[in-house]
Amino acid sequence: MKRLAFAFACVALLISGNPGRAQDAGAVQRGEYLFNVAGCAGCHTTVQGQQRGPLAAGGRPLATPFGTFYGPNITSDPTHGIGRWSEADFIRALRDGVRPDGAHYFPAFPFTSFTRMTDADMRSLFAYVRTIPAVAQPSRPHDVSFPFNIRFLQFFWKLIFFTRGPFQADPARSAEINRGAYLAEALSHCQECHTPRNFLGGLRGSMAYAGTRDGPEGGRVPNVTPDRATGIGGWAAGDLEEFLASGLTPDGDSAGGAMGEVISSSTGRMTAEDRRALVAYMRSLRPVENNLRQRPGS
Ligand code: HEC
Ligand code: HEC
Repeated sequence: MKRLAFAFACVALLISGNPGRAQDAGAVQRGEYLFNVAGCAGCHTTVQGQQRGPLAAGGRPLATPFGTFYGPNITSDPTHGIGRWSEADFIRALRDGVRPDGAHYFPAFPFTSFTRMTDADMRSLFAYVRTIPAVAQPSRPHDVSFPFNIRFLQFFWKLIFFTRGPFQADPARSAEINRGAYLAEALSHCQECHTPRNFLGGLRGSMAYAGTRDGPEGGRVPNVTPDRATGIGGWAAGDLEEFLASGLTPDGDSAGGAMGEVISSSTGRMTAEDRRALVAYMRSLRPVENNLRQRPGS
């Protein structure tokens, strides 16, 4: 009798347990792809010279005009990381920019882009993040000046500048362009660097992708709209694809700094199909004239 019960239990496990695990493995794999394409490691992992700190254990400084933010520890450590979070907590952080205790995140965390992810992608991402080894390293407090350091004020910022997702495909455009838009806007958050901001740090929609002199780390970020004179309207589709894969520009330069990192962690690791979709979307953008090489009035 006991043996029969054991056999039944084994069969039940085979039927119910295995497909479940197979599904989990698929989600973890998809989640890892999304984690790379979205560049999560970049802000949540320290780098010292060539040396990378433990994955997602936090501490990476992000200089902004408002001060320096530090990506927190998002490993599964129950005290210093997000080990006690439920999937719903995680989805709420990305979708609404809200902490499990209800406090608002600063937009240095690009939840303003991640909000556009689908629920399914957020769930896969969470499945992967949970597999990252826990690291007991406290998150470093942000070093941001008053009044931008007040979490409560983010509530008002969000009322003005935050549009909650998810991404809505445009039925008037091809599936490829919609996929490219999803990659650029929801995952790889290209606009977070390539679109200029107003004095409150909100993206200036009319200047989408037109570049800025006040990019992250205070550097210039080029205009990547198809404007011929001031953007990349002179690049062929193949040029852009090559650049996003390898970092090589048509005139033989190679991307450095922030973009070098985007290429090595995100666009360079995309499937060829995804990269082509991203290129198709970038080439469909409205050209915006914005000359960044010249100072205004000079
Ligand atoms: C441009 C830098 C940047 C990128 C890219 C980024 N994050 Fe963050 N993230 C931050 C910062 C800064 C905070 C802290 C925000 C705050 O304190 O209000 C944060 C906070 C978080 C939190 C909340 C942690 C906590 O303890 O409350 C989670 C979860 C998170 N990020 C996950 C992710 C995931 C997943 C990705 C990739 C999809 C990602 N982040 C990409 C900068 C980034
Ligand atoms: C973290 C900030 C950041 C993000 C995110 C980012 N970029 Fe960039 N990008 C830059 C910077 C800075 C440069 C200039 C690099 C240089 O001069 O070496 C650049 C350069 C470029 C160029 C070359 C333009 C030229 O005229 O040389 C293209 C094309 C480009 N980015 C496209 C993208 C796309 C597409 C995405 C999203 C997948 C993206 N970038 C995301 C910061 C960023």
